[in-house]
Amino acid sequence: MNKIKKLWRRLKNKDENIRLIKWMLHIIKPYFRFVIYVFLISLLSMGISYGSTIIGKYVVDDATSGDINFRNIAFMCGTTVVSIIIAIFSNIISSYINEKFSFSIRQKLFNDIQRSVWIKISKYHSGDLVTRLTSDIDGLANGLISILPSTVLIICQLLISFCILLYYDWQIAVFALILGPVGAAFMLFFRKKYKEYQTKFRESESEYRSFMQESLSDLTVVKTFRQEESNEAAMEALKNKRLHLVIHNSRLSSVMSAAMRMVYSIGYVVAFCWGSYRISQGDITYGTLTVFISLVGQVQGSVSGLAGIVPQVYSMLIAAKRISEVTEIEKETYFGKTDVPRAVGLEVSKVSFAYAREFVVKDLNFTVNPGEKIGIVGPSGTGKTTIIRMLMALTSPQRGTIRYILNGEETEKACPDSRRFISYVPQGNTLKTGTIADNLRVGKDDATEAEMLQALQMASADKFLKKLSDGLNTELSEKSGGLSEGQAQRIAIARALIGKKPVLILDEATSALDEDTESVVLKNITEHSEDTTCFIITHRRSMLRYCDKVIKLDEDGYMKMITLSHYYNKL
Ligand SMILES: Nc1ncnc2c1ncn2[C@@H]1O[C@H](COP(=O)(O)OP(=O)(O)OP(=O)(O)O)[C@@H](O)[C@H]1O
Ligand SMILES: [Mg+2]
Repeated sequence: MNKIKKLWRRLKNKDENIRLIKWMLHIIKPYFRFVIYVFLISLLSMGISYGSTIIGKYVVDDATSGDINFRNIAFMCGTTVVSIIIAIFSNIISSYINEKFSFSIRQKLFNDIQRSVWIKISKYHSGDLVTRLTSDIDGLANGLISILPSTVLIICQLLISFCILLYYDWQIAVFALILGPVGAAFMLFFRKKYKEYQTKFRESESEYRSFMQESLSDLTVVKTFRQEESNEAAMEALKNKRLHLVIHNSRLSSVMSAAMRMVYSIGYVVAFCWGSYRISQGDITYGTLTVFISLVGQVQGSVSGLAGIVPQVYSMLIAAKRISEVTEIEKETYFGKTDVPRAVGLEVSKVSFAYAREFVVKDLNFTVNPGEKIGIVGPSGTGKTTIIRMLMALTSPQRGTIRYILNGEETEKACPDSRRFISYVPQGNTLKTGTIADNLRVGKDDATEAEMLQALQMASADKFLKKLSDGLNTELSEKSGGLSEGQAQRIAIARALIGKKPVLILDEATSALDEDTESVVLKNITEHSEDTTCFIITHRRSMLRYCDKVIKLDEDGYMKMITLSHYYNKL
């Protein structure tokens, strides 16, 4: 039974590798032309170096017979210079392709991450995604651009050297190849270990980066909770883990290269002794001996070169696996709808949703008329934000349907296109680095200054803006650095209001404001946006006076839709 399982796993692994190779061939396709150029240039350089080796034979033979052939010496020098120039060109071209290729893959992965279904991509840590976007892509690009042509090149080199040797002396040619099976045996022996190592190394890289990113993203937490020492210790532990993996790998490579070098030296000594014996028998010249030694070196160099490529291939395959895994995450489907309806209503029918096994919200049923203001309340963790995510089609319910009613006629099932008529103020700090104006343009990319000021006024942000010397051009650093939490919230509300969408969702968007300011903001929104359908999640009951209906979620995920008078009677 175990054997069958093992065999099945091996077959699956094979399939996985074939799938990865196909995926890599697909992404390298547009650059294949350039890879061929690099390959041809390297082939030319190799041809010249063979020419130089053979000319060397004549130089030595001439010298042993008391002659010095300056033409051959000049030719040898010339070929050396030409091969150096070619190597420079080849390096420049490969770094150009490498850069171009890695940037295009990075762009594609970045686009894919942005367009993936939220619930699926949100399972990945941002540090892990950044590692995939950087180190993994560098590993893949380097592998595809350099490993592919150099493998073919090494095989060519092996074949050419072997054929020339065969031409001069078949026994030595066969002997030179002995390293081949030895190298292959080493490769097979270490294959599994390399794969394991590469997987672990990439994972530890992600862990390391995620930890650094998270620790540095909020230094106040680190300082106030006195996390400096424990963070340093955690960093040290992660570093040690990586170090252990690196040492393990270098031990593996050293054993392999030492073994190869040993066989290599034996090969060299045997070629030398065999060549000397043949000279003593008068079968070959001194020049042929030099060709022997050089070609045996090249054959063995090629075989050990192939062995050296194995870890790189595994590193490339693991990087490819990590990248393709993210690119293959299901993408959101957009139908390209651009029409923004004037009035939007909503019908939520028998909706239940679970992130894992347990349903978080159960059997939601409610309708909303265009322009209605709906409060959503309930204890923390009862599913308020989850409902919002479903309304914006960031995630879909496992049961039931959510339909928008557009202009009182057409219905549209909640889908990514529905976001064209929704403005959203998320929970927490979501402003980006840049000026206040840059942030407002996220809501409307061609917003004029007048529109910005109007939105800021509605969000009750105009007064504090006047106090900022740079006004709309005030630069915000990471996490709205330079503003208070409540000021940042008001900019975020203005960012949502500026687009004047028919649906507005506020997820505890005023939680950091004092009660008076919160009241002013909600009053402004509800009075000036009569036609806007609003969902207001709040923990402050007094704010429900601006709502027409209230959805109350209870601890076990069920809801009650309550009219406002009812709600107040219950308080
Ligand atoms: N991405 C997620 N993956 C798995 N479970 C989640 C995820 N987001 C939320 N949950 C779980 O779903 C439940 C509802 O979470 P939700 O964020 O909707 O609550 P909430 O009512 O908005 O709470 P709060 O008032 O604290 O913001 C919680 O038990 C939470 O643990
Ligand atoms: Mg919430």
